[in-house]
Amino acid sequence: MTTTSYRLGSVEFKNRVLVASGTFGYGDEVADLVDLSQIGGIITKSLSLKPRDGNPPRRIIETASGMLNSIGLANIGVHRFIEEKLPFLRTVGTAVIANIAASSVDEYCSVLALLEEQKGVDGYEINVSCPNVREGGLNFGTSCPAVAEITRRLRPLTSKPLIVKLTPNVTHIAEFARAVESEGGDAVSVINTLIGMAVDINSRRPFLSTVTGGLSGPAIKPVALAKVYEVVKAVKIPVIGIGGIRTAQDALEFLVTGAAMVQVGTQNFVQPDCAVKIAAGIAEWCNERGVKDVGDIVGSLKADASVSILDSWL
Ligand code: DHB
Repeated sequence: MTTTSYRLGSVEFKNRVLVASGTFGYGDEVADLVDLSQIGGIITKSLSLKPRDGNPPRRIIETASGMLNSIGLANIGVHRFIEEKLPFLRTVGTAVIANIAASSVDEYCSVLALLEEQKGVDGYEINVSCPNVREGGLNFGTSCPAVAEITRRLRPLTSKPLIVKLTPNVTHIAEFARAVESEGGDAVSVINTLIGMAVDINSRRPFLSTVTGGLSGPAIKPVALAKVYEVVKAVKIPVIGIGGIRTAQDALEFLVTGAAMVQVGTQNFVQPDCAVKIAAGIAEWCNERGVKDVGDIVGSLKADASVSILDSWL
């Protein structure tokens, strides 16, 4: 059988498929529907220091080509997470990555420091790229010095994996990945949602209360693959591919492009057990082809750099 496990620093993931932040709550809501232990890892909804109500409705709209959302980082806050959600997550038997969002560098540090005192958090994903809040969010994610500073300040606070989730809403995402790498980040997640908008012609209003939101789902997969390709060329740290993955084939496309792991997001709303199915599908595909370790296909893309337009600006 093909080896599916993957080690990132102190964490041994049983497979390379994670559920993306904000698409799986804190795991407990879907526990009756999914064998959570078969997921490579659960990334929590973003946690802030204080609870957040998020943005007013309407905050989600399905378009013909993807889901648009403007949740505004609604979450129960890190203290309630520790009290009410972490005890359950500790029993699940899969890696738990806490996603952190904040409106200041100090707040990121405080949340991480609180989680660091707890058992059951295996690593961190830093959300510097929420498109739907004024303070923090894209202010950070679209500033290379800010992304560098956040990574630099958080790095000494933990020896667990520190993953930074990057936004595609920038000119050259590779520069941001380089900043994370040079400040000691362990991995980057590529990509967060793309800014999008939907308009109701009858009311002549935008559907979302915040006018724009984050676009996700299969529509963004080709964009995500191109960004993963770009980032993989630019850094040595692992890249976690995310964007529109619905099937094992989609996930394999990211792995072949060079992603060491993948995240499944929007598809969780349609098929809560999709991460389990995708992990099994990857193993089966590799097994049928005599691949010893899923890692053997990572970065196996046969692309001629001399004809790639992207390579010219890297
Ligand atoms: C939200 C955060 C994100 O990082 C994202 O991509 C989309 C939505 C939010 O909570 O609004």
